[in-house]
Amino acid sequence: MALTRLSAPGLAHLPPGTAQAIAPLDEALGLPARYYTDSSIFAAETERIFRTEWVPVARADELATGGDYVTARVGGEPVVVLRDPCGGLRALSNVCLHRGMVMLDGAGNASAVQCSYHQWSYGLDGVLRQAPYMGSSSRFDRRSVCLPGFQVAEWNGWVMVNLDPAAAPPGDRLAGLEWLCAPYGVERYRIAARISAAAPWNWKLTVENFAESYHHAGTHPKTLEPLFPARGSRAADNGGEPWFHLDHVPSVPGLGPFVAVGAFPLLLFSVGPFGAVWFRLEPVAADQSRLDIVLLENPERASTPQAIEALVASISAINDEDTRVIEQTQAGMSSRAYRPGRLSRLEKARWQFHRYLVDHLSRAGR
Ligand code: FES
Ligand SMILES: [Fe+2]
Repeated sequence: MALTRLSAPGLAHLPPGTAQAIAPLDEALGLPARYYTDSSIFAAETERIFRTEWVPVARADELATGGDYVTARVGGEPVVVLRDPCGGLRALSNVCLHRGMVMLDGAGNASAVQCSYHQWSYGLDGVLRQAPYMGSSSRFDRRSVCLPGFQVAEWNGWVMVNLDPAAAPPGDRLAGLEWLCAPYGVERYRIAARISAAAPWNWKLTVENFAESYHHAGTHPKTLEPLFPARGSRAADNGGEPWFHLDHVPSVPGLGPFVAVGAFPLLLFSVGPFGAVWFRLEPVAADQSRLDIVLLENPERASTPQAIEALVASISAINDEDTRVIEQTQAGMSSRAYRPGRLSRLEKARWQFHRYLVDHLSRAGR
């Protein structure tokens, strides 16, 4: 998907300064601060990006057996993704069709989607099975009440949802990442640990931070920089497609490759032979996100509980370092004195993300 749509008229409804963000990399500036604070931009992102693009909500091993479910918000929409008794994946609305309560929470296993408010109960196919005291006359046909379904697909072990019924499968758009994931067998990786982290900032700050290792020297001087120095990172050309990968030359001989991968808008993971680390990011508001850091293990190279514990501790420490700088960057976005700065050549993937974002937001202006 080449970026052919970017043109000045399409940018007219976007904040001043947007055109500079999509200029060639050696002239580009960052996105104007409004992109990180303005709820009308967040609403436009919800409509034109989160409600039309594939969004990762779970790993396949969380939905291994019939009745397993995971809940999520996709484009603000409460969704439950589940494994049905026949082994199929389904994504259903998690909103009760009686009075609209959001029904399931978190993750678990259930034989039905039950609403606790007045106990309406839906089958795993979404059809209403029981509704106490509603009678069974032809005036109330339970079988005509069915939770709406959404597109769901698996890509490299990620269970992804798309609210747009016409969207092409995720593999079509992410074909450029297949060669990178295939040698690791990422689709077989299993969840080994999960860290819940605070993310009181705009979702794009997490994507941008993940897309560059320019900050390693300043933000991670004792953790990442000695192993994967900023100067040894390089983003691949993506040809205008909706992904990036950032490769690192390790400074320690024998250290395996380390690749940070992004499939826009929200799938972020780093991968190596050891396994992968998935940053499960959920935008909540212009200045609020949810973040779970999920450690994925290669089942052929399973680690001891002690090794997992040590890895969790070091990922948490690195994330604390990122949290401090991202929090303060969100604080700076409300400054009237701030003007977006030029990008380093080490921020190419951040620039690729800006071009993707503006391309999608500019569609409404055409
Ligand atoms: S809102 Fe769900 S049963 Fe009433
Ligand atoms: Fe970082």
